[in-house]
Amino acid sequence: MPDRYETRRFRTAANGSPDTDLARTWVKAVGFGFHDSNRNDTFVDKVLAMYRTDNRELTGVYQAAPVAPHSLGPDVPVATFATLRKDLNIGYGRQLEAQLVTSVTVRGTHRRQGLLRRMMTEDLGAAKAAGLALAALNASEGSIYGRFGFGVATFERSIKVDTGPRFRIRHAPTGTVEMADRKVLLDLAPGIFDQVHRLTPGSIVRQEAYRHTVSGAFSRDGKEDEAIRCALHYDASGRVDGYASYKFAGWDARPYTIELVDLVAATGPAYLELWQFLGAIDLSERVSWESAPVDDPLGWALEDPRCIESADQRDMLWLRILDTGRALAARRFSADGTLLLDVADGLGFAGGTYVLNVSGGDARVTEAPPGTMPDLSLDVAELGSIYLGAVCPVTLAAAGRITEHTPGAALTARRMFAVERPPHCLTHF
Ligand SMILES: CC(C)(COP(=O)(O)OP(=O)(O)OC[C@H]1O[C@@H](n2cnc3c(N)ncnc32)[C@H](O)[C@@H]1OP(=O)(O)O)[C@@H](O)C(=O)NCCC(=O)NCCS
Repeated sequence: MPDRYETRRFRTAANGSPDTDLARTWVKAVGFGFHDSNRNDTFVDKVLAMYRTDNRELTGVYQAAPVAPHSLGPDVPVATFATLRKDLNIGYGRQLEAQLVTSVTVRGTHRRQGLLRRMMTEDLGAAKAAGLALAALNASEGSIYGRFGFGVATFERSIKVDTGPRFRIRHAPTGTVEMADRKVLLDLAPGIFDQVHRLTPGSIVRQEAYRHTVSGAFSRDGKEDEAIRCALHYDASGRVDGYASYKFAGWDARPYTIELVDLVAATGPAYLELWQFLGAIDLSERVSWESAPVDDPLGWALEDPRCIESADQRDMLWLRILDTGRALAARRFSADGTLLLDVADGLGFAGGTYVLNVSGGDARVTEAPPGTMPDLSLDVAELGSIYLGAVCPVTLAAAGRITEHTPGAALTARRMFAVERPPHCLTHF
C-alpha cells in the first residue's frame, strides 16, 4: 500500500532562499498545534532567525495523496517535530551534548496513526547514529513519552511568595542589586546563565529565544514587552552574577503581584539578595514564579518558610539514554563501587547488561558476558530518571520500576548516581 505521508527534513532556511516558504508554513503549523493565534510573516521570520542561530532541524510530515478540496493545502505539514543540540550538565560540571526534541504536533485529523512514533523513532535513530548518547524533551502530558524510553529526570514547581511583613531572609548581603534597562539582558543574560549552567546538574544550555524573551525584546505577540523590568546582582568585586526579569501583574490582581519571568543567580548570596530585592519592591505583596526549583534554598533562608505557597510540582526534563556505555562513562559518580545493570530498551538503542565500575569517581563501563546475573534490572526510561541524581533508585524499586536482584543495590545506585548539588533545569524548550 503506498505511503499516505511524506517526511521532509530541513534546516531553517535563510530569508529569501527557496525553503523560506516551507519553513514559514512549518512554523505556522506548530502554532496551530499549540492553539496559538495565526502568526504573520514578520513574527515567523523572527522565530526563524532564532532557529537559525540554534541550527534547528525541522521535520514536517506532509500528505502524499491529493488533499480534500477546500482543506489546508499539501504544503501545510500534518505533523511537526524539531530538534536542536545543546550541552546538558550531567553533574560535577561535566557536559554531554543532548538531542533536544521540541515542537511536536500532529494535526487532530491525522492523530493516532503512528506519525509521532514514526518521527520519534527515526529521529532518535539518526541521533544515535550521529554519536549522541542522550536525548531530552519537555512533555505536555505525562503519558506520551515513556514508551519511547524517556524518563522524568528533573522537576519544578510554581510558587507564590508572600512578601508582606513576615517576609524576612536570614542573610547579610555581600553584594548589591541595581535596576537596569531591560534591554541590557539581550547581551548579559547568556553570560550570566552560563555561570549558572556550569554549576547546576540538569541544566541545559539555553536556546537563542531566551535572551529575547527575558529582555522583553520578543514577547508572545512578537512585539517588545515594555512591562518587563530588570534587576542585576553584583558580587563584592562588582561582577554581575545574577539577574531577575519580572513584571507587575497589574492593579486588578490582588494581592498586588510581581511575576518573575526569569531568575538566574550563580551563587547562593546572589540568589538570596535578588529575593531580598524582590521582597522589598513597594506596592506589591506577592512574588510568583512558575519555574522554581523543588529543592529551594529560599525556604531555608526565610525566617518563616510558610511565606512560600508551593503548587503544581511537576516533571520538567525527560531524558532518553541512547548509548548506555557512553552516557555512564561520561558521568562522574559520587561513590565508588560496582553495579551490574541490565537495561531493557524496546527501541533497541541502549539495551544490554553493563558493568559499571567506579573508582575515584570515574567510571569504566563494559558489557557483561552473557548469563551474568545483574544487580539491578531496569528499563532505559528509569536509567534516564536516575542518571542526573534527581530520582531515587530506591523509590523506583519500591514502585516496581527497578528490580533489585542484589539486596541493597538500589541504595548503592542512589549513592553512586548522586550529584554535588540538587539538579534543576531552568531551560524550557
Ligand atoms: C501527542 C501527539 C503528538 C501524539 O501524536 P500521534 O501521531 O497521535 O501519536 P502516535 O499515533 O504516533 O502514537 C504513538 C503512541 O503514543 C500513544 N499516544 C499518543 N498520544 C498520546 C497521549 N496524549 N496520551 C497517551 N498516549 C498517547 C499512542 O496511543 C501510541 O501508542 P502505541 O504506539 O504504544 O500503541 C498528538 O496527539 C498532538 O499533537 N497533541 C497536541 C500537541 C502536543 O501535546 N504535543 C506534545 C508536545 S510535548
